[in-house]
Amino acid sequence: LYIVHIAAEMAPVAKVGGLGDVVTGLGKTLQKKGHLVEIILPKYDCMQYDGIHDLRALDVTVESYFDGKLFQNKIWVGTVEGLPVYFIEPHHPNKFFWRGQYYGEHDDFKRFSFFSRAALEFLLQAGKKPDIIHCHDWQTAFVAPLYWDLYAPKGLNSARICFTCHNFEYQGTASASELASCGLDAQELNRPDRMQDNTAHDSVNPVKFPYFQGAIVFSNIVTTVSPTYAQEVRTAEGGKGLHSTLNSHSRKFMGILNGIDTDAWNPATDNFLEVQYSANDMQGKAENKAAMRRNLGLSSADDQRPLVGCITRLVPQKGVHLIKHAIYRTLEMGGQFVLLGSSPVPHIQREFEGIANQFQNHEHIRLILKYDESLSHAIYAASDMFIIPSIFEPCGLTQMIAMRYGSVPIARKTGGLNDSVFDVNEETIPHQIRNGFTFTTPDEQGINGALERAFNFYKNNKESWKQLVQKNMNIDFSWDSSASRYEELYAKSISRARVQAS
Ligand code: ADP
Ligand code: GLC
Repeated sequence: LYIVHIAAEMAPVAKVGGLGDVVTGLGKTLQKKGHLVEIILPKYDCMQYDGIHDLRALDVTVESYFDGKLFQNKIWVGTVEGLPVYFIEPHHPNKFFWRGQYYGEHDDFKRFSFFSRAALEFLLQAGKKPDIIHCHDWQTAFVAPLYWDLYAPKGLNSARICFTCHNFEYQGTASASELASCGLDAQELNRPDRMQDNTAHDSVNPVKFPYFQGAIVFSNIVTTVSPTYAQEVRTAEGGKGLHSTLNSHSRKFMGILNGIDTDAWNPATDNFLEVQYSANDMQGKAENKAAMRRNLGLSSADDQRPLVGCITRLVPQKGVHLIKHAIYRTLEMGGQFVLLGSSPVPHIQREFEGIANQFQNHEHIRLILKYDESLSHAIYAASDMFIIPSIFEPCGLTQMIAMRYGSVPIARKTGGLNDSVFDVNEETIPHQIRNGFTFTTPDEQGINGALERAFNFYKNNKESWKQLVQKNMNIDFSWDSSASRYEELYAKSISRARVQAS
């Protein structure tokens, strides 16, 4: 098949969180399975350009509509992780992607709806006819309504649209005039079975159009990133207003657990590590722990002291109050804690800066409040345990990466964590898939219980702990089986369309 992903992130060149990892990991695996896969991204000024190979501008420009006018877009092409990527650079006075950051701008809506429309225009003008256009999250949610309303009638009509919702927390809404600015007809869309707001009805607020709703209604395939989260979002509590829309489109909706890119995340070949290691040769893991302690100025007096890691965006979803609590509790129980994270929420960032200062020269705690790819690899490798106490978690990748690096996850049972972390003491689960420590109630007692069990296990059952670590490192978290699920969905949707057309 010819598959085009339209997305706002792609690891490692333009990554904010797991979305970037997924676009690259799924794309590479589909390519390996023999499909032609291309990616379309905005051309951000802040990308890691050294990860893009053979970057060059195409001779032709692509014209696209926005706010009643036509704009020229320069198209660049390059290769990232072996995948062909087209980068769209708009010649728009607002310099949409020259802002020094990916998100968080006052006009994010405009930036990404401009991009969605320009991406479709590029496919049309370049004569590209993908079988599947796969879009991700709110940034590209408008591709689906734009495609069927505007582009299919123009002849770009051979594709099926797949939309993956990575997080219902960030679904975005547009006003009628914002819809109009990218050429959508608000009046036409203002129907309950299209984009009329099913999430709230109140006559005081101006009419708003939820992006996710548009994507769910207009896409042929809708997925989210784990089976448990797919169930959660179909309830009033989890769906953030979209449960009824999802329930009425349930036949095309499915949860598929993400994988991880096992080439990028491989302790046996990882160049970010002090020493590479594998499940059969664990000496290197101890050396990475020693190096981390040295590099961060943590005490190395007792090498039996467990090191707990946490790498995360510091947002309420991730259970920031539980992370904070875990730092203090780890210290009380005689462990060490390294946190790598940053927050787009100013008061959370300030709060963690306060804790970081409090522990600035502490021998057992270090908080590093920034985004740092190489340090993240070093922490996965150095830590013995890894906490993910999320309030909700669509999939979560850090628990899988941690296991691949031999760090045992301590996770709350929600979303994709519930589908990938299985408690070592849970009698109802087959022994061979038990891999970590879980808790259910999102409070201090909940996380205390799991942390304490992990510490006791680590201290009192050295041999069993080693076996657990080695077993976890051998779990197959690759994209292989999940990419096959996507292949099946794509194929089914294409054959359904053929039947309908005949
Ligand atoms: P989310 O997408 O909700 O942030 P995921 O668990 O799916 O959560 O993915 C997070 C990804 O971002 C992982 O690859 C993780 O290693 C990475 N990450 C998160 N915070 C940082 C940080 N401060 N520095 C480096 N990498 C980070
Ligand atoms: C979102 C979710 C996270 C998921 C990631 C990739 O950012 O918060 O749980 O792993 O997308 O799908």
